[in-house]
Amino acid sequence: MTSEAQAYSQTLGGEQSIWFKISPFINADDPMAVLMRLAGRHGGCIPISLRSERIFILSEVEHFRRVLVDNVDNYEKYFDGLKPIFGQAMITVDGALWQKIRQPQQPYFHPAVYAEYIPYLVVSLKKKTDEWSRLARRGVTFEMLEQTWSLAADMICRALFDREVPFNPSAVFGAVKAYTNTSNHRSIRLKKVNGGLQEVSEEEPPARAISAWLTLPEAVISAAPWQGRERTLLNMMLSAEADAGMPAWDHRQVEDEIKQYLWAGTETTALTLGWTLYLLSRHPEAAARIRREGWEVYGDREPTAADVERLSYTRSVMLEALRLYPPAWALIRTATGEDVIAGHKIRAGDRIVLCPYVVHHDPKYWDDPEAFQPERFDPGRVKKRVKYSYLPFGAGKRFCLGGQLSQVETMLALSMLLRRFDPEYVGREPPQVAASVTLMPKGGLPFRLRELL
Ligand code: HEM
Repeated sequence: MTSEAQAYSQTLGGEQSIWFKISPFINADDPMAVLMRLAGRHGGCIPISLRSERIFILSEVEHFRRVLVDNVDNYEKYFDGLKPIFGQAMITVDGALWQKIRQPQQPYFHPAVYAEYIPYLVVSLKKKTDEWSRLARRGVTFEMLEQTWSLAADMICRALFDREVPFNPSAVFGAVKAYTNTSNHRSIRLKKVNGGLQEVSEEEPPARAISAWLTLPEAVISAAPWQGRERTLLNMMLSAEADAGMPAWDHRQVEDEIKQYLWAGTETTALTLGWTLYLLSRHPEAAARIRREGWEVYGDREPTAADVERLSYTRSVMLEALRLYPPAWALIRTATGEDVIAGHKIRAGDRIVLCPYVVHHDPKYWDDPEAFQPERFDPGRVKKRVKYSYLPFGAGKRFCLGGQLSQVETMLALSMLLRRFDPEYVGREPPQVAASVTLMPKGGLPFRLRELL
């Protein structure tokens, strides 16, 4: 293990980690039910006082507006335990540095470039279709998230880096899970030995996971270009590194940005697709409608950006899945100065956990909130929604940079994979939710496939 990985492994799940501190909540059997009950009891603001600091878990629309928009400069990003995953990538930093890193990347996420990316996404999907044909023929049960994770990684590598995935996606998927599964956090760093607490060995899976993770950026950079495109996000970052006028962009920054895309840009899309396929397995009429829509919009040719725009029912299904199972169930900040929220005096240093999951399931904003009803997202009804009651991609200036790209990826994947396959969820019903760093199904999403003739 490198000394860098060793240093990282020693901070795993450390006492400074917010996940460590709220673990009594989130390791409950049904953590979201616990959270919703407590949020209801405390008017949407759950105050937690610990010896060293205070945490406020917030879930009302006015709290989101206050922290993410109206008083945004009073709240900094807080990534503690996730530093090993992201380093100091854009998603973790604030102020002038954040601007210097985000601004030159924005053009690569402008909707105008999706038309350029779509053929590359389609290549990934055709590869996945072949793999699924083999899985269907073998009749095996497999982990859907491993499938959707490798698909999302392939899409990101081709579209943004002009690379074929230069690592074994299954191994990386396993490694990332070992690290980000917060129920591990307490045991990762400290183990009870004869009544006392002792640091666990470096050979524990999370530490090995970090070692593997740290090799990925260099693997991406040194892999042969796939098509030799000049205008890619990766080439922009490498040029910025070589540009003396852009000192924020050193090699470490380029590596950290790559790590960010391989996690924040991959795991979230993988989960969205996985949860949507689970819901569709329970609602075959919706899956049939997605198939029909695809045939009507692009028939048997390859879909274009204009076609994706017209997949409106497919979009509604995806948005409903993001409401029911928002991958980013919690957004975390630290207050830098005083504020007042829900009558509580916020002080500098207080930790803030914003919970999109709770507002997405709040009957004040959603009729029959636990029901799967894609029609809620019919274009005509969206305008009537209360602002900040739907935040799968966050809000304000730190809104997800890849949110629209991930929607294009997910819609294409649903449309193209469902026309060839009937994926059947064969796990526990309903799947139990684990409040990991992202909203994971406890025990995964086992599926079987039937290929449609
Ligand atoms: C369904 C898929 C996705 C979901 C649910 C999602 C969710 C989010 C959320 C909630 C945030 C804001 C976090 C906060 O305020 O603390 C965020 C930020 C971010 N996301 Fe995504 N994301 C998704 C896909 C992607 C993809 C595909 C990419 C890139 C390829 C991406 C790149 C980013 C980046 C770079 C940021 C940081 C933006 C900044 O801090 O300025 N995301 N994402």
